[in-house]
Amino acid sequence: MKKNYLRFVGSCFCGAAFLLLTGCGTVVRSDKHPALIPQPVTMSIGEQNFKIQPSTPVVLVGSGFDAGEITCVTEALDAIFEPVFGRKFEVRHAETRADRSINIVCDSQLGREAYRLKVGASGVDIEAGGAAGAFYAVQSLRQLLPLALWNEKQVAGVELREMNIEDAPVLSYRGVMLDVARHFFTVEEVKDMLDILALHKMNTFHWHLTDDQGWRIEIKQYPRLTEFGSMRKRTLIGPDPGGHYDENTRYDENPYGGSYTQEQIRDVVEYARKRFITVIPEIEFPGHAVGALASYPWLGCTGEQYDVRQTWDIDDRVYCIGKESTFEFIEKVLGEVVELFPSEYIHIGGDECPMKMWEKCPACKARLKQIGETNFRRLQSYGNARLERFLNTHGRKMIGWDEILEGGVTPTAAVMSWRGSAGGVKAAQMGNYAVMSPSDHCYFDHYQSEDREHEPLAWGGFLPVSKVYAFNPYEGLNERERHFIMGVQANVWSEYIADYRQVQYMLLPRLSAMSEVGWSLDRKNYESYLERMPRMFALYDAMGYNYARHLLKDLQ
Ligand code: ACM
Ligand code: ZN
Repeated sequence: MKKNYLRFVGSCFCGAAFLLLTGCGTVVRSDKHPALIPQPVTMSIGEQNFKIQPSTPVVLVGSGFDAGEITCVTEALDAIFEPVFGRKFEVRHAETRADRSINIVCDSQLGREAYRLKVGASGVDIEAGGAAGAFYAVQSLRQLLPLALWNEKQVAGVELREMNIEDAPVLSYRGVMLDVARHFFTVEEVKDMLDILALHKMNTFHWHLTDDQGWRIEIKQYPRLTEFGSMRKRTLIGPDPGGHYDENTRYDENPYGGSYTQEQIRDVVEYARKRFITVIPEIEFPGHAVGALASYPWLGCTGEQYDVRQTWDIDDRVYCIGKESTFEFIEKVLGEVVELFPSEYIHIGGDECPMKMWEKCPACKARLKQIGETNFRRLQSYGNARLERFLNTHGRKMIGWDEILEGGVTPTAAVMSWRGSAGGVKAAQMGNYAVMSPSDHCYFDHYQSEDREHEPLAWGGFLPVSKVYAFNPYEGLNERERHFIMGVQANVWSEYIADYRQVQYMLLPRLSAMSEVGWSLDRKNYESYLERMPRMFALYDAMGYNYARHLLKDLQ
């Protein structure tokens, strides 16, 4: 087996090294063994080639695509080829396909994310159900380009091997969450991550924007959230002792913070839109709220002035559910959030909310009595239901971590299952939509090796690529219940991820495995995946990504 892999990698690089010098410049020859991740439905390779040149036109055939969306597809083609051709493609509109062109054709028989990619001696044909499908065809093209191209600054042509691909995703929600609260990542870094998501045909970016350790999104009506709540005075060094902080606890004494202006948020949402990625913002409620409570002490049960949290772990200090002013605040915040994010779903957090403060608070006790309940957990479902009503009146749906099921959930809320798959299974059985993101298969803040001494500090756990790949989001569900599983999501929590290069390291190559869970669930095959991965590693190298090498070493 090992020998096969090595031969495969060798042939990738041989192909990659093969450049043809012609009278008018370099032509990059096609690779012998192109491979795709995630796995398409079918893919066959032929013997002929087609040379894409700077003069090759892009022909939009017919008028089936949304005009604004299809522009994103031609821009994606330019993003690949302009750096080596020195010019953008000429885009033409026509009723029929043209020879020696890149034709993009709408086929309404296909799903909106489905596509066919055909390369033959006479040109490239992309047929897609919607512009999203055409975009994914371009992403496939991007992966299939000769690897040697990535070393070139200017070429006269790029040879593509004859091929025929049919492709469509199995799951409609293919997400990645980034926690920017524990550590902050710049707009440029977030955009880089969106490019990585697009390469893997992921279509949802869940942006964890608020938490105990920092509030990161500008809210015009509450400026202290970012002026004060985005900055912590110092940060824990090393592993969190689980609440037991004493004289041995060490801190980096430098203030740490960061936030996004609304203009920057809009910029990221637009960047994502052009990559057919929906951005779902998360505004944590009613727990993980110290960033907000430190900014406006009246949001808490006691009104005390808190510091933005400097350690990890769970905090008892949560929003007061008894006071109306809390709801006025959170609704105004969500009012600004829905203006910034066009996503169908808005994430309200809901995880890990201790009830200690509520149990001692006169206003919370009065609220519990008012709603005719005795269990304080019902305060959380009461709060969630109010937030959901607010979101619904603004044309949006609510999603929350699986704790939102505990105090009772409305039939319309969606559940993100993280404490195993049980929450998602329960939701699906009740007829609520769910995203499967169980920590044992989807938490990319877990270690990638059991040899922890030689790994960067991580949250804990052990999540190798093989375990991500083995994830079955449908386990325990019958056909009817499966309908309610929207998809899967990988989560990058950042307590121990202080810089963006490490985000890449935690993402890659595990994201390639998650992309096959989401896109290729019905055709997943680990042996085939391992055969295709060496080329993906070579692509990561060519693109300058920082990735974990455990799997690559196993394959050598
Ligand atoms: C979570 O990991 N607390 C959702
Ligand atoms: Zn209270």
